[in-house]
Amino acid sequence: MRPSSFFGSPDHGGEGQGRLGRLLRRPEPYTTFAFLYDALSLDWPVYASGRRAGIEALRLAPGDRVLDLGCGTGLNVRHLLRRIGPTGHVVALDSSPAMLRQAARRVRRRGWTNVTLLCADASTVDPAAWEPVDAALSTYVLSVIPDRAAAWQTMLRGTRAGGRIAVIDMQDPQGRWAVLRPLARWLCAVSGSDIHAYPWRLLEADLIDVHSAARRGGHIQIRVGTVPAPSGTIGSSP
Ligand SMILES: C[S@@+](CC[C@H](N)C(=O)[O-])C[C@H]1O[C@@H](n2cnc3c(N)ncnc32)[C@H](O)[C@@H]1O
Repeated sequence: MRPSSFFGSPDHGGEGQGRLGRLLRRPEPYTTFAFLYDALSLDWPVYASGRRAGIEALRLAPGDRVLDLGCGTGLNVRHLLRRIGPTGHVVALDSSPAMLRQAARRVRRRGWTNVTLLCADASTVDPAAWEPVDAALSTYVLSVIPDRAAAWQTMLRGTRAGGRIAVIDMQDPQGRWAVLRPLARWLCAVSGSDIHAYPWRLLEADLIDVHSAARRGGHIQIRVGTVPAPSGTIGSSP
């Protein structure tokens, strides 16, 4: 696979009609506001804690190949590259050309040569588009995708047996943090995310050795597990 390439182009609507035209029509968050995503996504105060914890629990090693499903503007990439080094490789997939353009800018600015940007719908793409990876993650993505079970299968089938997968996503804040529910629900609604999707349950059903953690009063849920060997192969559970 070519490094730092950007291919495929699912039609999200609104592309090629100019930024003002898109703003005046019904806005699609990951097209209309892609250029503002990093500034508006509350990454530093809220969501970075989840991506860091999930990536830590992936237990990456130098040379690993990693799939970042729904990579957005590429906020995970530097954390991944710090662990996998120059001999590793990131396949960063997203269905929004506008978000991928921001990711491509980041890759170019940082001079990263071991990142492949892939424009594809996670719920329909054939995982044979890349060699099976050692690890995969989705941060704040599966709750956005209507057919999240199919997107989960893409992660599962695109990762080698014994590889690790992380799902980091959102739910209502719990306990004394419940006072922030209206804010969390509003943020999820404007970003097209279903706060009641609980997509980490897909991981819990299919993986072994599952690690669970939470951040920000339970609003951010982190699950990381290991892909079991297919049944009937040596080392698989009965
Ligand atoms: C909330 S953003 C998260 C971006 C990034 N993972 C992060 O942590 O900042 C959700 C991302 O999912 C992408 N997305 C939505 N539906 C998708 C699909 N069916 N296939 C691939 N990506 C999708 C959007 O384009 C957007 O970039």
